[in-house]
Amino acid sequence: MMTHLEPELELLLDDVDEMRRRDPGGMLNLVRGFSGQLQEALRISDNTELPPNLGGLRNIVIAGLGGSGITGDIIREQTSDETSVPVVAVKGYDLPAFVNSKTLVFAVSYSGNTEETLGVYETARARGAGLVCVTSGGQLLEAARSDDVPVVVVPGGFPPRCALAYLFTPILVILGRLGYTEDRREAIAEAIQLTEDLTTVIDPEAPASVNQAKRLALAIYGKVPLIYGSTGITSVAALRWKTQINENSKAHAFWNVFPELNHNEIVGWSAQPDISRALHVVLLRDKEDHLKVQRRIEITKEFMTEASGVSEVFSHGKTKEARLLSLIHIGDFTSLYLAFLYDQDPTPIWAIEYFKERLADENERGSW
Ligand code: F6R
Repeated sequence: MMTHLEPELELLLDDVDEMRRRDPGGMLNLVRGFSGQLQEALRISDNTELPPNLGGLRNIVIAGLGGSGITGDIIREQTSDETSVPVVAVKGYDLPAFVNSKTLVFAVSYSGNTEETLGVYETARARGAGLVCVTSGGQLLEAARSDDVPVVVVPGGFPPRCALAYLFTPILVILGRLGYTEDRREAIAEAIQLTEDLTTVIDPEAPASVNQAKRLALAIYGKVPLIYGSTGITSVAALRWKTQINENSKAHAFWNVFPELNHNEIVGWSAQPDISRALHVVLLRDKEDHLKVQRRIEITKEFMTEASGVSEVFSHGKTKEARLLSLIHIGDFTSLYLAFLYDQDPTPIWAIEYFKERLADENERGSW
């Protein structure tokens, strides 16, 4: 839906110098560099020596929070048709009771200082689980080195959410090396090419009139986005869109998945036209969406006539990796353009730092 502000906002998104001024942390360049980061991640994925006892275990846990934690969701979805062992993402302080010496645990923390992940690392060690760390440094790297735990050391200096390529690629490659999945390198190679091609049509130089990510940001601006995926890769993409809008655009955003949302969330759409007008729906679509889900999406649109708008974003590419990363890449750019529309610097995340510091202080003072 057009607003009277739109021509002015569109001009802003075509003013590359102004966007760079609003981005002193250089996040545009980091997102632009995603394809190159994937390429480098693939190169460093083979550097970690793996003891033979990490193969043939019964279940896999990938533990981390936020920008590191989504790695677990990505790996779970990427490997779901291939691996016969369950893959569980853990995003908290505790490990489930099933974790024991027959579990392979990946402790993933970009900074290496996230207290929940450090706690999981200790519990995994105490239970004798197979352990691999993925980090750029901090206490996790220190602990892994002193405990002789295999560790993938990824390049430092990124905001964790911009280090996605470095965090999930090594895990995917390691699972292939250990025989839990097929080798996924070709699929990652497709994603590298595809995200590079995609960048040229959605980066700041591409005008708003033809730039899908800029158009999406303009559509979402001033509304609360609800990002809907469906079971499978679009569910992970929906989570990433939501968290990138939260952290980069400093805005509320929510996500859900088909068919589950047809069993609860749909009811709100049937009864609250005024609230619906404050919402913008983004439907993330994939060629492998279940046929019944495709039908459900069409019927659900009939309930959303009062929404400020409904946008659809289709994945590109053949492999799951390429399709998922294409959706993530479009979402990452969209979140940056939305940040500029809200005049927010995408890089700082004061609220997250506040929690980390405040809890660390309380730990030091022995309140826990
Ligand atoms: C920051 C970000 C956060 C962090 C999270 C956990 O860019 O995305 O969600 O990822 O606070 O920190 P790390 O990744 O260092 O374990």
